[in-house]
Amino acid sequence: TRIAIFASGSGSNFQALVDACRNELLDATPALLVCDKPGAFVVERATSLDIPYFTFAPKSYSSKQEFEKHILSELKSYEVEFIILAGYMRLIGPTLLDAYKGRIVNIHPSLLPAFPGLDAVGQALSYGVKLTGVTIHFVDEGMDTGPIIAQEAITVDPDETKESLEKKIHKTEHTFYPKTLQQIFANKGEAVIK
Ligand code: GRF
Repeated sequence: TRIAIFASGSGSNFQALVDACRNELLDATPALLVCDKPGAFVVERATSLDIPYFTFAPKSYSSKQEFEKHILSELKSYEVEFIILAGYMRLIGPTLLDAYKGRIVNIHPSLLPAFPGLDAVGQALSYGVKLTGVTIHFVDEGMDTGPIIAQEAITVDPDETKESLEKKIHKTEHTFYPKTLQQIFANKGEAVIK
């Protein structure tokens, strides 16, 4: 399965997915990185890992439709079959949703439907939940609202800080995302229950 990974930031999940493909834990080809922040660290990772990338500045387009059309033409030229969001800090619009219906997956650092949107880890800590986790779901037009594919729970310890919780969440994500994608691809895109 040829995948494009979309990311906006550090890209530790991007790195974990590429490593999993190379270690044959994930039967997929990371064909392209798509990044909406040209200076993001994930672009450096793509360079070191020798993965092609397409970076763009949304502000230099007149609308989301315009930049998504540009993304779509890149995806077509790299023969991308699935879009994998990994810290892409932007809602996917109708241009990409229509072209990749049921073939866009996201990872979110909470047990959805709790704490959607920005800073889910901070939201969970300030609410005081004792259990949080990671959700992998199909993407629809909403903010972290699509059908849930798999979830993994993580305990919030009494002395937990945002840094320590983020570390635990990332550690889980880096194995959980490749493992779940492997199941999705084996099921040819059908939702799987972990
Ligand atoms: C991850 O925690 C992911 O769940 C969320 O954004 C974060 C991205 O981290 N959607 P990184 O850039 O992969 O390190």
